Amino acid sequence: MGSKMMARATIFLYVLSLVAASRAKGVSVGGQGEIDVKQIGAKADGRSDDSQIIVSAWQKACTSPSPSTVVISKGSYMAGPMNFQGPCKAGVNVRVEGAIKAPSDINKLKSQGAWVMFQNVDGLTLSGGGSFDGQGALAWKENDCAQTGKCNSLPTNLQFTSVTNSHIQDITSLNSKLFHVELLNCKNVTLQHVTINAPEDSLNTDGIHVGRSTGVNITGADIRTGDDCVSLGDGSQQVNVEGVTCGPGHGISVGSLGKYHDEQPVVGVTVRNCTLTNTPNGIRVKTWPASPSGVATNMHFEDITVKNVSTPILIDQNYCPYNNCEQKLPSKVKISNVSFRNFQGTSATALAVKLLCSRGAPCQQVELADINLKYDGENGTATSQCANVKPTITGKSSLPICAGSQS
Ligand SMILES: *[C@@H]1O[C@H](CO)[C@@H](O)[C@H](O)[C@H]1NC(C)=O
Ligand SMILES: *[C@@H]1O[C@H](CO)[C@@H](O)[C@H](O)[C@H]1NC(C)=O
Ligand SMILES: *[C@@H]1O[C@H](CO)[C@@H](O)[C@H](O)[C@H]1NC(C)=O
Ligand SMILES: *[C@@H]1O[C@H](CO)[C@@H](O)[C@H](O)[C@H]1NC(C)=O
Ligand SMILES: *[C@@H]1O[C@H](CO)[C@@H](O)[C@H](O)[C@H]1NC(C)=O
Ligand SMILES: *[C@@H]1O[C@H](CO)[C@@H](O)[C@H](O)[C@H]1NC(C)=O
Repeated sequence: MGSKMMARATIFLYVLSLVAASRAKGVSVGGQGEIDVKQIGAKADGRSDDSQIIVSAWQKACTSPSPSTVVISKGSYMAGPMNFQGPCKAGVNVRVEGAIKAPSDINKLKSQGAWVMFQNVDGLTLSGGGSFDGQGALAWKENDCAQTGKCNSLPTNLQFTSVTNSHIQDITSLNSKLFHVELLNCKNVTLQHVTINAPEDSLNTDGIHVGRSTGVNITGADIRTGDDCVSLGDGSQQVNVEGVTCGPGHGISVGSLGKYHDEQPVVGVTVRNCTLTNTPNGIRVKTWPASPSGVATNMHFEDITVKNVSTPILIDQNYCPYNNCEQKLPSKVKISNVSFRNFQGTSATALAVKLLCSRGAPCQQVELADINLKYDGENGTATSQCANVKPTITGKSSLPICAGSQS
């Protein structure tokens, strides 16, 4: 390029940037593409419903041609259902510094499946240290899941559907009416330092549920809740779970699988360096009896510490929580290439390891290494129970694993 052309190009770019800047001004309030919801009318008094203002801030950010930020600054907000819908023109950051509360009345959240939804967004960042409080206490009382077997009538706190290349960091979810955080059909999403808190007796309040998603990393989460801390449903692929503390809660689970006909395989799960305290299960793989064929493979669990966990290692292919299954037919979900390495701590029952695979699809390539679990109860040392599995045992373990005849 000649110097004249260069100068022209520079002027042209300068004019272009002025135009872009003035457009951005029309779109956003404040500098650098930041929209503070309080500056556009959010009351933040903890009573008035700020949901429409917050969603309108999202819509402005989402239509901005350059990355922009919605700021929910410090304060207490009340908000009804919110749908943060994409696709957006550029990446969007949502910085939640405040505490957002849902209405406790379920009827005020009936309009959509989750309280806060992000849909079809590429390049989302959700961060800021703030919280989403589902105020679920009333809803838990009305949860009739155990009677009906249908558990989808209550809203999840935070649901991400078809969200890609995104980062969720330093966010707290409290007292959800149902699942706390749900990822469906997502790709390349990291959840870092997510905190989840609900009482031990809150029904079906799973911490983080992943389904039909590829490339999900969950690191450094602190989860106390009434159901599974992390559950990986069908179609979970390349999912890493690291540095999660769980308890109270029901442990970290793959499944349940095999309840429905159109389920996708689970392939590539790593759970590492997690601590579970006072939970009924540690690491659990669960599939329903009488299931259609399915696949769960390449699953590796290592460096797990358990404290007073009833069953630290559990494969349960006869999972039937509400006792209304055809127990006589076996599960046909094929479990293979599974390892449990370096587990240590205390088991609250003598049966510390249960590998109950299906006679309809015996487990294959199961490996256990360095399993050091202590049971201090009246009935002696920790032991194991096995069915339809011939695991490879290596390293130093404190208990006999699948030593006797199988049950
Ligand atoms: C995954 O998402 C992150 C943003 O969280 C992005 O920086 C990275 O490039 C994405 N990776 C791929 C392979 O697209
Ligand atoms: C998730 O973690 C794995 C292993 O630590 C890493 O290889 C991968 O790049 C990470 N993916 C994302 C989306 O951060
Ligand atoms: C293991 O997880 C804990 C959080 O429970 C974290 O503090 C620690 O740094 C992690 N260690 C490694 C080696 O990743
Ligand atoms: C062990 O866990 C059980 C629940 O499984 C709980 O009732 C008991 O208090 C716990 N024990 C300790 C010492 O925390
Ligand atoms: C078992 O799983 C690991 C990790 O996903 C994978 O690298 C390996 O190829 C798998 N082995 C077989 C035999 O499929
Ligand atoms: C010990 O074994 C007996 C007989 O099997 C059983 O009734 C009792 O509940 C067991 N105790 C514990 C703490 O597991």
